[in-house]
Order: sequence, then structure tokens, then C-alpha cells
Amino acid sequence: MRTLKHLFDNNFRWASQIKEKNPDFFSHLSSQQAPEYLWIGCSDSRVPANEIVDLPPGEVFVHRNIANVVVHTDLNCLSVIQYAVDVLRVKHIIVCGHYGCGGIKAAMEGQEHGLIDNWLRHIKDVYRFNADKLRGLNGDEKLDLLCELNVIEQVINVCNSTIVQNAWERGAKLAVHAWVYSIEDGILKDLQTSISSIEQLKENQGAS
Ligand code: CO
Repeated sequence: MRTLKHLFDNNFRWASQIKEKNPDFFSHLSSQQAPEYLWIGCSDSRVPANEIVDLPPGEVFVHRNIANVVVHTDLNCLSVIQYAVDVLRVKHIIVCGHYGCGGIKAAMEGQEHGLIDNWLRHIKDVYRFNADKLRGLNGDEKLDLLCELNVIEQVINVCNSTIVQNAWERGAKLAVHAWVYSIEDGILKDLQTSISSIEQLKENQGAS
């Protein structure tokens, strides 16, 4: 129990199954990674990046935090974006939120949760920016819409980073996408806010 043996057993079985199908899988993968996608998602245990899009190891570079927030000064998140864009040369950055997000809910409720409240201030900002759209909605509708609006806001933040701006300026093919996932049925929804140039960013910022 103390050594979490069951997880090591799971791991051994998982690796064996993959090697049975493809004996070179791990040796091939260990020599390089060339993912096309950077996934920025919520830390929620029910939203595992690779599994949702049914992709194996090596295909998705991942950053997760509570409520999939991209803060302009978050060195952790920015480092992931920079490495993904400049070194791995991913073609797509996907910001994926999810309905029923505990982080979004906590930000809406205003109860104290400790240090996390400072992180959730960013969600409260998104609420404030979009107060007109959220006014008059009931609890679940409001939560769902704020989950979506938060994803779009974070997409804008990714696009405004110097990393993405510079990539576009040098002509890199890079698109940033807004998705939301339903933990109730396992289905992804495209929020139709894919941005792949400075011009498109300006259009989307004007509309938001
Ligand atoms: Co969440």
C-alpha cells in the first residue's frame, strides 16, 4: 500500500500491451518527440488530454492548471508555450475548458478557499469583462457560459503572448483553438474561435 504497488502493476501491464502491438514503440519514441499539438487544459482528473482525443504518447504536449488559465506573467505556462512553439514547432495550440469546472464554479461563488482564491481572481476578471452576457442566466447556464467565455479569453491571452506574436511574424503556421469538453458525455465542442494570424486576433478582440 505504501509503495502504490497497484500503480506499478498497471504501468507494467500498460507498457507490455503497447510493446506487444509495436515492439519498437518506446525505443522509437525515446529518440525524439514531434507533437503537432499543445494542449492547455484544466487539472481536473476527469479531463485527461491524450485520452479525450484518443492519441498515444508522443502526440500531445500538455500544460494543465486549475481552470485552464493563461496568465500573461505565468513563467510556467509561458515556458511551455515557448518550448512548444519555438522548439517543437507545434502547429496547433488547443485551450480546452470543461463544463462543470470546479475552478470556475469556485470563482463564481465567492467562498474562501485559501491561496487558490488569488488564482481564481483571473476567472473573476473574465466574469467582469463579460458581465453583460452573464446577467440574468440561472446557475448552471451561467456556469456553462463562463466556462466557454473563459476558454475564449485564454485563447486571446495565448495569441497576445510575445511567443505566438513572434511566431506569426516569422510566418509560422500556428493556430490557436477554443474547445470545451463535457464531463457528462465525453464529447468535445469546438467554440468556433480558431485564430491563426494577427489579423484574425484583431477581429476576435474587437468582437469580445
Ligand atoms: Co476544471
